Amino acid sequence: MREKLERLRLEAKRKIDEATNEKELEAVRVEFLGRRQGKITQILRNITDLSPQDRPLVGELVNQIKRAVQEDLKRREKEISREEEEEWVDITLPGKKPLLGRLHPITQTLEEIKRIFIGLGFQVVRGPEVETEYYNFEALNMPRYHPARDEQDSFYLDDTHLLRTQTSPVQIRVMEKKSPPIRIIAPGRCYRRDAVDASHFPMFHQVEGLAVDKSITFSDLKGCLTYFVHQMFDKKTRLRFRPSFFPFTEPSAEVDISCIMCKGRGCRVCSGKGWLEILGAGMVDPEVFRKVNYDPEKYQGFAFGMGVERICMLKYGIDDIRLFFQNDLRFLSQF
Ligand code: PHE
Repeated sequence: MREKLERLRLEAKRKIDEATNEKELEAVRVEFLGRRQGKITQILRNITDLSPQDRPLVGELVNQIKRAVQEDLKRREKEISREEEEEWVDITLPGKKPLLGRLHPITQTLEEIKRIFIGLGFQVVRGPEVETEYYNFEALNMPRYHPARDEQDSFYLDDTHLLRTQTSPVQIRVMEKKSPPIRIIAPGRCYRRDAVDASHFPMFHQVEGLAVDKSITFSDLKGCLTYFVHQMFDKKTRLRFRPSFFPFTEPSAEVDISCIMCKGRGCRVCSGKGWLEILGAGMVDPEVFRKVNYDPEKYQGFAFGMGVERICMLKYGIDDIRLFFQNDLRFLSQF
């Protein structure tokens, strides 16, 4: 009898452990402890068949087994409900989005500028950020007394080397190496000793453009920049070429666009003028051609230079250049 009960107990335990949900567990309970057919219940019920001496002993034994099975059932029930809780997935909850990296707004603007000019047949070239005085100034027709050459305005590394103050030296490097026709843009970092404020930062980005060929005119420059502005902003944006001066272009112009914010009516962004300056440009000065041994009687060219931060600020309505360099994710993740 003892052996039979022990076997029953083991069988019950095995089945309890094998049950994977409440329904299966209930079936095991009924099989062993069910009020009518339960295997253990039946033994208890049949206890009257035993001799009076054996009854208390067997009764006690069966009750022990019954309690053990009940405990096993309870334990397994808890395990199953915990397992089910862990598996429970609420598919109506919003998902957790992984934080995606993205390109810096300046990089995005630069990519857009490149895309537009590549579409016009320009090639992207690069030049060094540490320049000699010759390439940064001299070859660009900025002689020794020129104020921009002052130590107050430029970061000199030694007597003849400095961090380039503009991307225009790349024009010279390209023309020294290649003969016309030339169509290049040169993006990159530039450095000036400016006090930091909402529109000045000692490091910034420019994109230089240069086209040289046998019959390039000022209208090519106008057409090219108009196409650029219409692509970069929108087709309704108007352009204005204001006479200006650069030592390496003649004639020179500063190019304004109608204010992006007020469409030219006048607002805070354009200080009521309706126009925003976006770049400098002009026809390559014959003096510059002579420096690179191009015949100014044979070739003409146009050049332009734009500030990438400025374009980006105008495009997205950003009012402080410092935001680009603080790397605050609240700012960067908006682009
Ligand atoms: N390099 C000039 C600047 O930094 C811009 C420019 C480039 C003007 C090419 C004319 C032609 O202001």
